[in-house]
Amino acid sequence: MTSNVKTVNVALCGAGIVGGGVCQIIKERQEVFKTLGIQFNIKTILVRNVSKKRDFELPAGAKLTDNVEDIFSDDSIDLIVEVMGGLGAAKTVVFGGLKAKKSVVTANKALISYHLNEIEELVNTFSKDGSRFAFEAAVGGGIPVIKSLQRDIIGADDVMQVSGILNGTTNYMLTKMDQTGCSYEAALKEAQDLGFAEADPTADVEGHDARSKISLLCRLTLGVWIKDEDISCTGISTLTADDFEYAKILRSKIKLLGICKKVNNGTGAEIYVSPVIVPISNTISSTNGATNIVEVRSKYLGTTYYVGAGAGRFPTATSIVGDMLEISLNKSPKPFPLKQNLTQHTDYPGRFYIRINIRDATGIIRTVGAICENEGVSIHSVLQIPITDKQNVPFVITTDETLASKVKVVVDSLEKQPWCLKRPVALPFL
Ligand code: NAP
Ligand code: HSE
Repeated sequence: MTSNVKTVNVALCGAGIVGGGVCQIIKERQEVFKTLGIQFNIKTILVRNVSKKRDFELPAGAKLTDNVEDIFSDDSIDLIVEVMGGLGAAKTVVFGGLKAKKSVVTANKALISYHLNEIEELVNTFSKDGSRFAFEAAVGGGIPVIKSLQRDIIGADDVMQVSGILNGTTNYMLTKMDQTGCSYEAALKEAQDLGFAEADPTADVEGHDARSKISLLCRLTLGVWIKDEDISCTGISTLTADDFEYAKILRSKIKLLGICKKVNNGTGAEIYVSPVIVPISNTISSTNGATNIVEVRSKYLGTTYYVGAGAGRFPTATSIVGDMLEISLNKSPKPFPLKQNLTQHTDYPGRFYIRINIRDATGIIRTVGAICENEGVSIHSVLQIPITDKQNVPFVITTDETLASKVKVVVDSLEKQPWCLKRPVALPFL
């Protein structure tokens, strides 16, 4: 039986949270892989610091190196697994690997969303030589959403909209703020203490991680690549405990969503990342803690949900090992099966929640009403939790259907008022 087993030589680039999980799963499941006709030999492991103590068992016989040339100079390497992160050395490894006609698996959504066209060109050029590219772990960690879309949805169906909680750290924080009424700062500290949020949490809390992920989902499902810098992105760092109190009054939760959808009879694409007011009747609202969810609305299938662990050692490593197996068995789907010529719409319609922190005075509601009227924004409701501190009153209006651009003008104008304490926070309703 072993004679029919193909040995696949692997260079594992990165031996941190995800890399450690890959090593352990391969060790534990090698016998199962053999029944499929594959065995993985982790030949080289690229790290920054070769003397660092690892929190997992290094594969027997693997060479630990900090020199990327050890990978490129070894012709016997079949498959490169990039789990380093970042745009520097990871780019060298992914681009160099594809150019060397090797297959590449990566979890690096930032790298792919930033260099999508170049990666696609390399993949197209070198796929005829047998090199493959897979990135299941880049969106939704362990949730098998990328391959489901590549294989089962795109092509057979016409995807109209994708919305998702794409970042576990921020969903953990938002859930805490909702359930305990704690401040943003307290939720962040807890997420850091538990190892969800990094010491520098910017990529998560400012929505950049979710932005890279929705950019990839948009390229996959709508067939159009919209660069990270062209995607409107609002994070969660301006939210306060008051927003969660108001959300309860509105029978809603606040979730950081990445959304892309077809607009204008399928000729345009709209994409953004923002905290969104989600009614509790919507499935997305009950996705709590570090869990991720992706909702896909398509013409023939209707609505489907992909839910599960969006991060963590083993969930993410499962996606990586799944990609390694499919590539080795020659079964991996085309990375970007669809290309469409859609025009990006930077403005989007919706109903909005606007929180204005004011120093109490008479006539404020009249002025807020006049500012909205000037912009043609119709007020749907006016909400005010009874005042406890006249020097800082969080006061909320919700709007009828309008445009994000009009809401921005309203917010700019409110911010200039003498009683307005800080820039008002505007969130769309789902
Ligand atoms: P991590 O724990 O920080 O590990 C990174 C590894 O890469 C470390 O072993 C580090 O070496 C190595 N490395 C970093 N820069 C390097 C360089 N310039 N040269 C050589 N080696 C370098 O990161 P991670 O959490 O495993 O994440 C890896 C990737 O997976 C990222 O793209 C991340 O976005 C993605 N991802 C992670 C998760 C998750 O739950 N963690 C989920 C989904 C996707 P040293 O150990 O020697 O420092
Ligand atoms: N930092 C990400 C999250 C995991 O919190 O979901 C990596 O994609």
